[in-house]
Amino acid sequence: MAARNQVYLLIELMIIAIASLEKPALCRARKGRWQLLLNNTGVVAMHMAVTHLNTVIMFDQTGAGPSSYRLRRSFTSGRRCADDSSDESCYAHSIEYDISSNYIRAMRLETDPWCSSGSFLSDGTILQTGGYGNGSRRIRYFRPCRDGWCDWVQSKTSMSSRRWYASNQNLPENDRVLVVGGRRVFSYEFVPKLSLLDESHDLPFLRQTYDGNGGENNLYPFLHLSSDGNLFIFANRDSILFDYRRHKVVKTFPRMPGKGSRSYPSSGSSVILPLEHGHQFRKVEVMVCGGAAPGAHRAAGRGKFLKGLKSCGRMEITGNKHQWKMENMPGRRLMNDMIILPTGHILIINGARRGSAGWNNGADPSLVPYLYKPEKTLGRRFSTLTSTEIVRLYHSSASLLPDGRILVAGGNPNQQYMFENVTYPTELRLQAFIPHYMDRRYHKYRPENVTIETRGDLSVKYGEDFTVRFWLGRKLSKVVEFSVYAPPFTTHSLSMNQRLLKLSSKNMVRDATKGWVHVTVEAPPSPYIAPSGYYMLTVVNGGIPSTSQWIRFIRA
Ligand SMILES: *[C@@H]1O[C@H](CO)[C@@H](O)[C@H](O)[C@H]1NC(C)=O
Ligand SMILES: *[C@@H]1O[C@H](CO)[C@@H](O)[C@H](O)[C@H]1NC(C)=O
Ligand SMILES: *[C@@H]1O[C@H](CO)[C@@H](O)[C@H](O)[C@H]1NC(C)=O
Ligand SMILES: *[C@@H]1O[C@H](CO)[C@@H](O)[C@H](O)[C@H]1NC(C)=O
Repeated sequence: MAARNQVYLLIELMIIAIASLEKPALCRARKGRWQLLLNNTGVVAMHMAVTHLNTVIMFDQTGAGPSSYRLRRSFTSGRRCADDSSDESCYAHSIEYDISSNYIRAMRLETDPWCSSGSFLSDGTILQTGGYGNGSRRIRYFRPCRDGWCDWVQSKTSMSSRRWYASNQNLPENDRVLVVGGRRVFSYEFVPKLSLLDESHDLPFLRQTYDGNGGENNLYPFLHLSSDGNLFIFANRDSILFDYRRHKVVKTFPRMPGKGSRSYPSSGSSVILPLEHGHQFRKVEVMVCGGAAPGAHRAAGRGKFLKGLKSCGRMEITGNKHQWKMENMPGRRLMNDMIILPTGHILIINGARRGSAGWNNGADPSLVPYLYKPEKTLGRRFSTLTSTEIVRLYHSSASLLPDGRILVAGGNPNQQYMFENVTYPTELRLQAFIPHYMDRRYHKYRPENVTIETRGDLSVKYGEDFTVRFWLGRKLSKVVEFSVYAPPFTTHSLSMNQRLLKLSSKNMVRDATKGWVHVTVEAPPSPYIAPSGYYMLTVVNGGIPSTSQWIRFIRA
């Protein structure tokens, strides 16, 4: 008996030993890893957007004094910049990052886009709105190009109102964007305008949610286009469904339970959960996570950093029953970015555990990303991933790349570029978070050489079938999904216009000897479900995504 017990004990010890030996590798495989891409992007990535030419636009405010990207010649005068240059035009405040070469180049900004907003037009041009000072009513365009010579172009027309801390939503009407809110601006406007006489339209909801004593707490409202063509607007703790064509509130949703606020400067974040072809994309759920305690902004001004919020609220905005279902993240968090991964899971990354957004207002950085699986049962949805060592507080950002990594950049709670004698220095390192699904052990499941067969220019009309071809060295998994992702414009923990759709597919055939798979995929039914423009198409085989290919949805 004793001998037997000893054998058991020995076996048990061996199992423990093996388990602990394997742990680091297993851990990495399931929890992802971090990669340092550049030590110095020169410019703080307060705003970030990934273009369909696989570059990333990042820009800061122009008023932060010299950036760390000094130019040889002034952007404005063309004169040589002296070594001790104090001329603002001798520094870049915007860059373009090329994903495959890992290089950056400087871009020129004429006016200050500090705390501004943006969206993509149907041809992949970034439409960028607002900012500070002489930039506050500006409209800027950036049309990506392959030769690296393109730059920001400032529109001759301006917005009707100054919009600093406003949000944008792409509308189903081709190439029209709605810009909502701004500091002490309780209105919205269309860009381009509906007519010559069209001006800003009042939005009393913004006045009602304005918290004068709490630091406003309704800036950078969360916007999501619903499948019925109405716009979901969330500010502070409240939300409405808004018919922007008739300028009418269609629904007022219940207030989110619990104390604290979710919008800037409390700065939680929000996503529209993946839209599924199963219910014709009609069911729309939003989720809002994190934020700050009541009074956090004022308290931070006095050097007291209150604990952030731990909760998320999730609610269906379609149908007739609306109730926030609350659940807790693994920790408290604010200034968090929320990114929809090609798998349909939500990554929560960056930010802090205490304080508020704004200069020097955050404390206790959140270094651990969270993963949220919306389809799991309550209580089993969250997990924690591999932590980083780099702090990403105010003015940091994160974006999904076509290869499946998440680009993480920026962070500067100081009014200027400061690297010494401050608690949280300006952060210019560029990192990528590499999710578990890119680990080598999953390579054999990853669909490769994905191509989209269209009539030439990667454009597909709404509701049309198109063919996707890819290679897989083994049998297909039980579940193969085709997701399309609208690249967001990211700033201040918002990913404006971000959405992911799981498209329907049929006639999937794999040539067992050569491994090529052909499948017919159906484009989204209308621009109400997916506004016109470029999307990243990803084949997800048993939870392992391919590299994405760009596809463009257009009107007939
Ligand atoms: C960043 O700097 C560190 C320290 O100087 C160096 O070891 C590392 O190789 C650099 N990394 C990159 C990506 O340039
Ligand atoms: C905008 O304002 C900044 C700072 O006040 C100034 O340097 C710049 O020349 C102005 N630009 C334009 C186009 O007016
Ligand atoms: C940081 O503080 C040290 C010691 O007080 C001082 O010598 C140094 O100049 C400061 N650095 C900056 C950038 O202000
Ligand atoms: C997939 O593409 C890569 C690189 O473009 C190529 O080397 C490889 O041979 C392709 N695989 C197949 C099965 O054709």
